[in-house]
Amino acid sequence: MTIRITWKRVLATLVGLAALGMAVAWSGVIGLAASSGHWAITDWFLHWTMRNSVRTHAAFTAPKDPADASGLVSAAGHFANSCAICHGAPGQKPAPVMQAATPPAPDLAVNAREWTDKQLFWILQHGVKYTGMPAWAVQDRPDEVRRMVAFVRRLPGMSPAQYRALVAEASPAIDPDNCTGCHGTDGRGRGSPDIPILGGQSPEYLLAALKGYANGTRSSAVMQQVAMRMQPAEMDAAARRFAAMPGLGATPAGDPAAARIVEQGLPERQLPACVSCHTPGKLYPVLAGQRASYIAARLRRWQGDKNVVDARKSHATMPVIARRIPKDMIDPIARYLAGEPPTKP
Ligand code: HEC
Ligand code: HEC
Ligand code: HEC
Repeated sequence: MTIRITWKRVLATLVGLAALGMAVAWSGVIGLAASSGHWAITDWFLHWTMRNSVRTHAAFTAPKDPADASGLVSAAGHFANSCAICHGAPGQKPAPVMQAATPPAPDLAVNAREWTDKQLFWILQHGVKYTGMPAWAVQDRPDEVRRMVAFVRRLPGMSPAQYRALVAEASPAIDPDNCTGCHGTDGRGRGSPDIPILGGQSPEYLLAALKGYANGTRSSAVMQQVAMRMQPAEMDAAARRFAAMPGLGATPAGDPAAARIVEQGLPERQLPACVSCHTPGKLYPVLAGQRASYIAARLRRWQGDKNVVDARKSHATMPVIARRIPKDMIDPIARYLAGEPPTKP
């Protein structure tokens, strides 16, 4: 007897197989226990699939400059706050409860070597499905991801002492909320270009910023991880503590074109004078004496240079103002406000 292959029969077989699959899944016999780990072949297959996926996606979507080594302090601090529990860190084992997962998070001091910077960027930005490796907590801060790529790249070969120096955890007596590892005991941000100076800032503004990070209206995975754990009273106390430190308030100086925009604005572009809002005693943040790199980065983000500015989410005023600043004036304005001499052309 011969069996003729017809479309009807093929279809019936497929439906039958699907039903069988559903029946097996329904019966509950498939073992999902993490305690037994994967078979070696499953482990190999899943990791092989993941590697291929990362390679292809990273090649097409990762930025050309996927790593930024200028902000290792905040990256290390964020690693300690968010990643070390699963991956461990130099001189620190991962939490046993996390290592009991299947698959357990790999030791990055070994595995980081397997990946290019672009591939690391893709993994950190998007996470890995079915493994517990989370995506970056906010999707519109590729600058934070780029700093973490540079940090992870340095994990092979990083000594426990080097790691501790980067994270710089102070004793709880000095630093009850663990802010100084990034912001420094003097609130000056340990010289990092991405960390704003807090000393001398208006306490109301610092408090509003902390609330914004905690509820997600201000986008930063690094600060969100810190702020979401704070009670309102702790936020208030921390804002007052840092605001009372010396820091901001230097007299702006330098480039006359930048000075004009800050003092008078550009009427032809409907750009208001910065000082009409940013003046001591008003509710707006103090800019004078702030780090130029930080001011410039915030203005560029608002301009939507690399990211879409979501007017519903962020404070609607500054994105509108920032977009009216001529692109080539961002750095001069930032340096002027910081009181840094203008760069030579
Ligand atoms: C809940 C646990 C968990 C947390 C938290 C976590 N990871 Fe992972 N991570 C994993 C697991 C599990 C994998 C393995 C994925 C795989 O191999 O398919 C992984 C993979 C990675 C990889 C790729 C290495 C490789 O060869 O698989 C990098 C890089 C990485 N994580 C960095 C980070 C960073 C940086 C953070 C913090 C922002 C972080 N992870 C937070 C669990 C975690
Ligand atoms: C892991 C590093 C890290 C830790 C720990 C940290 N910060 Fe920050 N903080 C940053 C970075 C980076 C920024 C800039 C974020 C951005 O781009 O919006 C920032 C921004 C801020 C701002 C906004 C300032 C402004 O001018 O807009 C406030 C307020 C602040 N931090 C307060 C705190 C307090 C209080 C703590 C402790 C409870 C703390 N931070 C802990 C890294 C950190
Ligand atoms: C109409 C009032 C107004 C004017 C005019 C204005 N700003 Fe702002 N600015 C704000 C507000 C409100 C914030 C706080 C936004 C937030 O909550 O993050 C802010 C925040 C900032 C910050 C972030 C400070 C920090 O510590 O993170 C920078 C940088 C800034 N403004 C630059 C400028 C510059 C440069 C100009 C002039 C071209 C300007 N602003 C004009 C209202 C104004």
